[in-house]
Amino acid sequence: MAEVRKELGESFSYDDEGFRMSTPVIIANYKAKRLKSRDIADLGAGIGVQALNFALFSDRVIAVERDAARIEYLRKNAAIMGAGNLEIIHGDSLDRETVKKIGKVETVHSDPSRSKAGERWSFEDLSPNPLSIVKAYNCDKFSFDLPATFPQEDIPGDWEVEYISLFGELKRLSTYGGSARIFHKSAVALPEEERVTGGGESHSKGELVRKVPLGLIYDLDGSLSRAGLVLDFIHEKDGLFLIHEDRQNVFLTSEVQMRSAFLRKCYRIVDSARSMNEVKSLLRKHRAGKVVIRRSMDPKRYYDEKRRLEEDLVGGKILYLFEFSGIFYLAERMKDGSEFKQLKAKL
Ligand SMILES: C[S@@+](CC[C@H](N)C(=O)[O-])C[C@H]1O[C@@H](n2cnc3c(N)ncnc32)[C@H](O)[C@@H]1O
Repeated sequence: MAEVRKELGESFSYDDEGFRMSTPVIIANYKAKRLKSRDIADLGAGIGVQALNFALFSDRVIAVERDAARIEYLRKNAAIMGAGNLEIIHGDSLDRETVKKIGKVETVHSDPSRSKAGERWSFEDLSPNPLSIVKAYNCDKFSFDLPATFPQEDIPGDWEVEYISLFGELKRLSTYGGSARIFHKSAVALPEEERVTGGGESHSKGELVRKVPLGLIYDLDGSLSRAGLVLDFIHEKDGLFLIHEDRQNVFLTSEVQMRSAFLRKCYRIVDSARSMNEVKSLLRKHRAGKVVIRRSMDPKRYYDEKRRLEEDLVGGKILYLFEFSGIFYLAERMKDGSEFKQLKAKL
C-alpha cells in the first residue's frame, strides 16, 4: 500500500481486493510508455493504477470497470490525479453496448481478473477473456497481462510475450498483438528497463555451461528462465557461464564481476569442501554465525540441515552454501552486488 500512496498521493483510494489486483506503479508506468497512443481503452480498470498511468502518456483513455464499488474508487482517483483525459464507463467490457460506446480506438489493453479453475491457466480463467476482446474490438494494437505461469504454448503465435520482473522478482507476463508487437519474446528487468530478447535461435549449451564454478556466483532473475532466455542472456556476456538450473534457481558464474539488472545477487566463493563435516569445520574457520543453504534439497529437510550446520557457531558472518557436481562451496554475499537495494531506496 505504501508504494501506491507514495507514487500516487496520500489520498489515493481503494478497496483491499482492488489494491491487491492493481498493477505495481513502476510496471504501470513502463507499460503506459510502451503503449502510448492517440486513444487507448483499459478494459477491467480496477481502482485505476494502470489507467491513470496511461493518462500520463496517451491523449485519451477510456477505462471500463464492471464492479460498482471499484468504479467509485476509480472516479475519485481520476479526480485526485486531475486526469481530464480519462473517461470512465461502468459496465461489462464485452457487452455490445460497451463495445459500441467505445467505438474504434488505436489500442485496447486489459489486465483481467484471474480465477484458476483447473491445473493450468487457460484464457477461460481470465475476465474479461482476452480472446473474446480481440474478437469484439477492432483495433490496431492490443496488450493483455497474463499470469506469469500462463502456458506459453497456449498464447497465439503472433503475439509477443514479455516477462516483466521488478527489483529481481518476476511479476507478470504481458502480451502484445497487432502493431503493438515489437519483439518475438523478451524479458524486461524494471526499473532499469534492461531487456533480453530471443527469436528462437538455438545456442550450443556446451560452450555456455561449466561444471566447476569460477570465483563468483550469481542468482539469475526469474523472468529469464520463465521466458526460456537464459542461454540468450549468457551468450551476450563474455566470461559468464551457467553453473546450475532447476525449477527454483538458476545460478551463473564468472571470474570478473558482471553488471546487469538480471544478476540480482552476487556471491564470492571463499572455500570448498567434499563433505558436510568439512563444511562444518570451514564455517568455524571463517567465523560464520549463520549459513544460508542454496544447494538443491528437499525443503522439508532445510531447517534440520541449517540447525546442524549452525550449532556451535560463534562468529558473526553469514555464509552461503552451494553445491555443484558433488562439491560444496561456501560463499559470501558481495556488498556492491545488489544495486537494486540502493535504487529501491531512492524511489
Ligand atoms: C486485475 S484488475 C485490474 C487492475 C488494474 N490494472 C489496476 O492497475 O488497478 C481486473 C479488473 O477487471 C474487472 N473486470 C473483470 N471482468 C470484467 C469485465 N468483463 N468487464 C469490465 N470489468 C471487468 C474486475 O472487476 C477487476 O476490477
